[in-house]
Formats: sequence, C-alpha cells, structure tokens
Amino acid sequence: MAAPIDRMGLLLVILLPVLFSISHAVDRSNFKTCDKSAFCKRQRDVKPGQSPYRALLETLELSNTRLTLQLINDNNKVRLLLELYRLQGNMTRVKINELKPLKPRYEVPDVLVKDPPTEPLSVLDRDENGVVLSLGADSQRLIISARPFRLDIVDGPNVLLSINSRGLLVFEQLRLRKDTISHKITSTVGSMWDKIKNVFSSKSETDSEGGEDVEQNVAEKGEEEEEAKEEEDQPGMWEETFKSHSDGKPNGPTSISLDFSFPGVEHVYGIPEHADTLKLKSTEGGDPYRLYNLDVFQYELNNPMALYGAVPVLLSHTAERTMGIFWLNAAETWVDIGSSASVQGGSEKSQTDVRWISESGIIDVFVMLGPRPTDVFSQYASLTGTQSFPPLAALAYHQCRWNYNDQEDVKAVDDGFDEHDIPYDFIWLDIEHTDGKRYFTWDPLKFSQPREMLQNLMDKKRKMVTIVDPHIKVDSGYKIHKEISSKGFYIKNKDGGDYEGWCWPGNAGYPDFTKPEMRAWWASMFAYDQYEGSMENLYTWNDMNEPSVFNGPEVTMHKDAVHGAWEHRDVHNLYGFYVQMATAQGLIQRSGGVERPFVLTRAFFAGSQRYGAVWTGDNAAEWGHLKMSIPMCLSLGLVGISFCGADVGGFFKTPSPELLVRWYQAGAYQPFFRAHAHLDTPRREPWLFGPENTALIREAVRQRYTLLPYWYQLFYHAHRTGQPVMRPLWVEYPENAATFAIEDEFLLGKDLLVHPVTDEGSRGVTAYLPGDGEVWYDVHTYKKHQGNQNLYIPVTMNSIPVFQRGGSVISRKERVRRSSLCMQDDPYTLYVAVSAQGTAEGELYIDDGHTFNYEKQQFIHRRLTFAEGTLSSSNLSPDSQFSTASWIERVVFMGVTKPNTATLRTADGSESALEFEFDPSSELLSLRKPGVNAGAEWTIQLR
Ligand code: NOJ
Repeated sequence: MAAPIDRMGLLLVILLPVLFSISHAVDRSNFKTCDKSAFCKRQRDVKPGQSPYRALLETLELSNTRLTLQLINDNNKVRLLLELYRLQGNMTRVKINELKPLKPRYEVPDVLVKDPPTEPLSVLDRDENGVVLSLGADSQRLIISARPFRLDIVDGPNVLLSINSRGLLVFEQLRLRKDTISHKITSTVGSMWDKIKNVFSSKSETDSEGGEDVEQNVAEKGEEEEEAKEEEDQPGMWEETFKSHSDGKPNGPTSISLDFSFPGVEHVYGIPEHADTLKLKSTEGGDPYRLYNLDVFQYELNNPMALYGAVPVLLSHTAERTMGIFWLNAAETWVDIGSSASVQGGSEKSQTDVRWISESGIIDVFVMLGPRPTDVFSQYASLTGTQSFPPLAALAYHQCRWNYNDQEDVKAVDDGFDEHDIPYDFIWLDIEHTDGKRYFTWDPLKFSQPREMLQNLMDKKRKMVTIVDPHIKVDSGYKIHKEISSKGFYIKNKDGGDYEGWCWPGNAGYPDFTKPEMRAWWASMFAYDQYEGSMENLYTWNDMNEPSVFNGPEVTMHKDAVHGAWEHRDVHNLYGFYVQMATAQGLIQRSGGVERPFVLTRAFFAGSQRYGAVWTGDNAAEWGHLKMSIPMCLSLGLVGISFCGADVGGFFKTPSPELLVRWYQAGAYQPFFRAHAHLDTPRREPWLFGPENTALIREAVRQRYTLLPYWYQLFYHAHRTGQPVMRPLWVEYPENAATFAIEDEFLLGKDLLVHPVTDEGSRGVTAYLPGDGEVWYDVHTYKKHQGNQNLYIPVTMNSIPVFQRGGSVISRKERVRRSSLCMQDDPYTLYVAVSAQGTAEGELYIDDGHTFNYEKQQFIHRRLTFAEGTLSSSNLSPDSQFSTASWIERVVFMGVTKPNTATLRTADGSESALEFEFDPSSELLSLRKPGVNAGAEWTIQLR
C-alpha cells in the first residue's frame, strides 16, 4: 500500500519545477525547529544540574578490556548499563544502553571499519564515591564519580573532558503506552505482549535479536515501574504531527542525550553539514545544530539548520591539545553548544559545553584524545576508515549542468572545450538523460547511442558521469522496479506495504539499502550487461539520497517507515551512506575488482569518505555562497571527508561573469572541482562570457591541471593516513591562536596556502601567512614573504593568491592538454621552495592513476629533499614496483643564491652539468632538462 500522498504534497510536486526557478530563501516552515521536534523540545526542557543518575559501584565488573557498571535513575528506578573501553590509539569508548530494554535498541552497523581494538583497563583507586582508572598514556586517568554519575578524563592536574558534569544524561527507556497498561501488571502481560507484537509485527523479518526476551523484560519492567514514581506522558511521546504529517511512534519516546564539557576550550569544529562558519557558534538562545539528512530547497547561509549530510563528529582545539567526540548514532540529532566557567586548580577557566541529543538508538561515543590534530585524524580514521583513493581523473575538472540535452549537445560541449583550449575530464548527465527518470536507462530519442557517445569521449581520453538516484519509478514495465518489488527490497510503510513517495519520476519506491542483499543486487546492476549502454569510462552520481521525498515530512521519508526490524527513524542518516556504498561496490565489481570507482553523493554520514566524493548541494550564484564553500569543505575535511566541492558558479540563479570567474578560481583549488547549474539557468559553459573571461577561466582550470600531481599525492596521503587534503590553518599551526577562526583561506596539504578572492569588485585581499620564522613564496611571482604576518595582496581579475611554504617541494606537470589522461606520461617540473634554513622536502607519488594495483605495491613513491645545496630523490617505498615514462624536465628553486654549477648525478654514477637561469631579483633558479626518470635515484648539487 502506498503511503498517503497529501494534497500539499501533490501540489508541491506540480509546483516544484516552478518553485525551482523562483528566487527566494529557504521556506523555514517546511523544516522543524527544536521546538517543533517533540524529543528535542523535551530534552532541551531538561535543565542542567539535576542529574537523577547514580552509578551503582557494587555492580562494577572489569574484564581485561571492558568495564561495565549499572547506572540508576533515582526518579524512575530504570537502570542503564554503562560500558567503558580504552581503545588502541588513545581513545575511550563510552556506551550506555538500557540494562533491560523491552526490545533491542538500534546500534549503528557498517560504519566502523572493524571492532575497535581495545587495551587493558586497570583500576587505580576505588572507594564508595567513585573509581579511578588508568588510561594508559602517561598521566591520563578516567574518573567515575558515583553520585551523581559523572565521568572525567584527566591528564595530570588538568581535566580534559567531563561527561555528564552538567547532568544532562537523559535516556528515555522503552516503555508501554499508559493507556495499554493495567495496574495489575501480572494479569496484563499477555495483552501487553500482544500490543508489542502488533506494533512491531511489520518488523518480524530480521528481528531475531532478543525477541524472546521481550516477554520477560515486560514483566520485569512492570515491577520496576511499580516501584518508581509514576512518569507522566508528555506531548509528542506517542505521536507527533508536523504540518500535515503524523508520525505514529510505536516505540514511544526513545530519545537520548548526554553532555560533554571541555575546560579551557574556546574553539570547537565539525559536525557537518551546515552552511555555517568553520568555528562552531554558541547555540544559546537559538536552535541547536541539527544533523538530519534533508533536501533543503534554497538553503540559507549562517544557520544551524540541517542539510543533506550528517557527520556526528566534533573537534575541540586549544593551543595545547586537540580532541574529538564521535557520537555514533544515525537518528535525527541536535547538538547544543554553549560556554560556562569551570574552576581548575583554584582558577576560573571558561569551558565549552556540548550536548548531543538523538531521537533513538543508544549512546555510543568515541572520545578521541589527540593530543595533536594529526592524532585525532588518525584516531578517527582508525574507526571509520580513510578517504577512498580516487582515480586521478576525478581530481581534474568536471563539466556538469542540469541538463546536457542530447548526444549532439554533449558533442558540442566536448568540442567547445577543445576549441577554447580548456581541459576537462568528465562531462555529466543529469536526470533528463534517462527514459522518464528511470535510472539505468537512456532517453531513447535524445541518447539513443550511449556507447557511441561514450566511445567518442573515450577516444579523447575523457569520461562521463550519469546520475542514478535511489527513488525508483513505480512502473510495472520498468525492470529495476519489477525486480526490487518482487524481491521485497523496498522500504515498507508502517502498514507493511511498499513505501511510496513522490520524487522526480512521480510515484516512487525506495530500495532498502540497509539490507546487504539489496546492496549486492544494486551493485550487480552496474555490470556492463545490466546497465545497458554503459562502458568503463562511465561513472556515477547519487543524488536525492537523504532520501528526498517531495511529499514526505520535511521533504524526506516518514520516520515510521520500516527497514526490516528497524524504523526509518533509527537509520535515517545512514541511508545516503549505504546508497553510495552499494554504488561504489557496483563500479568496482563491474571491472572485476580492478578499477577504482568514482561516485559522487549528496547525502552522507560518518564513514562516507570510504566511498567517494561529496558536494555541498544546491547552493546559489551569490558571493556569500562562494565564500561559504570554504568553511563547508573545511568542516568536512576535519571529519574525514576530504573529497568535497561546491557547484562552481552556483546552482540556483545566474552568476555575473565576475562571480563565475572568481568561482572557477576558487574551485580550481578545492578538492572536487565541478561546474554545475540549474535547469532553468542560462547556459554557462566557460566560453560564453567573452574572450577575456574565457581566458581567465582557462587559466584557472589550467592551474588545476598543472597541480594534479600534487593533488594526487595529497589524496594518496589522505587515503593512507586519514589526514585531510584541504585543511584549516590551525591544523598545521595548532599553537597559533591567530589561525583558529580563519576560514577565508586554507591549506592544501601543508605546503600550499590558498586565499581565493570571494568579494565582488575586490582590489585586494589580506592573507594571513602563518609560521614564525617561516617564509612563503607567491606561486605566480615567486616573491618571498615572511610568515606570521597579514599580507595585503593587490588583486586583478587574473589573481588567485596562492603561496608555497618555504621548506617544501611540489611537483607539477606544465604541459596542459585536453584531459588528465592525455598528460599521463608528461614530464614533471619540481618547485623547490627553500626555507629560511635553506632546506626543503616533498614527495612525488606516481601510479597508473586508476586501478587498485597500488595496493599491490605498483607505484613510485619518492622523497625529494634539499639540504646543503643538494636536492636528492630517494625511494620511500623500496619494495614497490612501477615504472613511469615521465621524466623531470625542470627544477625551479625559490629563495636560493646563484650557484656556479649545477651537477646532476644519477644512480649509475654518471655526472652532468645542468644549464640554468637565475633571476637575482626574485632569487629564482631554473634548471633545465635534468632529464632523469621520475622514478629514478638522483641528486642535483648546487655549488
Ligand atoms: C538536486 C541536485 O542537488 C542537483 O544538483 C541536480 O541537478 C538536481 N537534483 C536534478 O537532478
């Protein structure tokens, strides 16, 4: 049975195309504020300082690596089970669940890459007030206080983090609805059991965990509640309405909350996705930051409203220490941030207070104790994995719009790039390329020969992306729908029928991607013989996977829709993660496990970094949105998702040529570089704005292509280590408070600093160059600047302020061609930017650019070091094997004096003098044609 489609919904679907072309801000009335969300309101009404929880120390059990302890709520006598683990790599895991829930509560699967390895825990001290545990590393301790219950993580005399110190642990236990309970518990257990069975009847499929225990738990619960003081039901506990939608809550109130305080901390970051500042703001007096994947039409800047993705990870930072909290919960979540004062060592310190509130599930928190930013990134990567290593081409430029109309259009645009000598790697097809919004198909008239089209692109060493959304047209003649429905793979509505909602194709079903069998089937649909017309240069875009349901509450799925044993409420924020996971799996499988996939997603969760790229959704052609693309991608990078970009040019509205040029210039230095535009906007291919603007865009795109070796190396590093590609300055200069709030400039890796121009009519920007005693080189003029200063940089329309850190070596390919693949064997130019101490260091990473063979050591990874006048290339991975045709065609030194000679020595002992040019005014030395292979052992000595 279909979910009821209300009249407003239908109207919305009819009006949608019209709405999309009207310019106005987000309609806030479509989305809940905390006040309109019953659980958030209930939780926020609980004020600090009245914790009813007590730790029952006599229940403490300690196995080697796991400590358990019961907590009791003195108001209602409900007991919770606390589990504590010390994890390898300086992390602590805190889990809290009901001791005896009526039925199992949802625990997020598939996000952690493995069961996090534990380390032994030992009790150092214990009395009737609490317990002190050793957290291994040095002087770190975990203190459990019994009354009220509270946890403190301390390092010597300093409290690093306190949990429940504000008493906001709230755990709404599963319960029976009052009007179904007779006071004579024993005589009614039978009927309550029936009630539970009815309520959860639609979840019987996979609900094996603990079902038999329910009866007993009901009885025990009854006794427990008899002892306890009667708790009144509050509005919204069993049912809630929002606009015309009602949310029947078969499980009643299930929300959870916990507070964390960071003494001495003033800066916290993360919890994307929000169109807001990098440094998180206090939410006192306003709404909390909301994490609930939503398709927000025309989102507004500078507010904490939910957007398409959710990563429940928050970082705290001071000059002394960086830490992180990973709140592993996939239900709707709100995060309050405030500040208060704490007393430490007799003196008052300000502290940041963070409170997490989720609608269901359990409390499962990973405290990442740093202490340095790099440690937190490694800690988080050890839990949820690292950025997938994209095919090199995916780091190049992508040309998209909604829509390229037909094959002729694709060819004309493709030719346009050649005519205007602008490189690009991918052209994208949006929803109109399909046969009536049936994904995995092609419009029979407009795209009748997809293979021919793809082959033409392949001949030019270019690629294509098509969109494959997760809403499936309900149409008995459509193979994908038929199979999903016959296999029972659709999400169900609360009555047990297939859930249906409105999206681009009209009436649509939503595959249940939480099911592994469904994901395996979906992946198999990308096989070349299933996805007709597809070829190996066709990749995938997953959109609308929040999921977007035009006629659903808040434009998404009803929370009481059913995924096997669980409600949509429990899994909502995971849906997009699973869609991208299954799609990436499909692309890997179609090549027999050889080729790396490329999948772009709009919705995401913690761990999504493992499956591809993310973009910031439907932004607008406004200067504010261009500016906001920086903190939005920086925030994602901090929580593992490095492959981030914003629609270049802005999706809604029409950019002025100036804005478009500035956006290309900024986008060229952001990880995912794709121009995109709404269906109703005028065409905006780069050559449509007169020769001057074309030249400016060409130059920006070419700068991207010359830097591809560096981008690739940064992504390799991110993939191996979890360190972000695009970084806030404070990540590299953690002790320098001047960097903590900077969000109009950023670092790529540690060696390039970018300060894009994001103001209309700008004549200059002021960039902060960090690092006392460091030097930075303007990559365009090679001019040297001292670190630790605000530098005013006059700009023209041509300017993209970028600086290379003194002390680094960056490799580029300077013969820009049609696409990155055309440049594969091209030679490298090494840019050696010498530090104030006369040294420099960098890396060069090379592999085939597209397969998983790098996992079999088929790559070249070299360290480039400059010290005492000698630049040398040494092997960072002696066991690996790969050969490249690329050689070193030029070495440029910045910040050196003129040498008398430059001598190249190769591994066979031969020596040759290199020709060079020196410009004394800029201290620039350029060595011509060392000619050595990029994978070889060599040195160049300047004397
Ligand atoms: C919404 C996406 O955010 C946008 O990029 C896309 O063009 C439209 N859906 C149509 O598919």
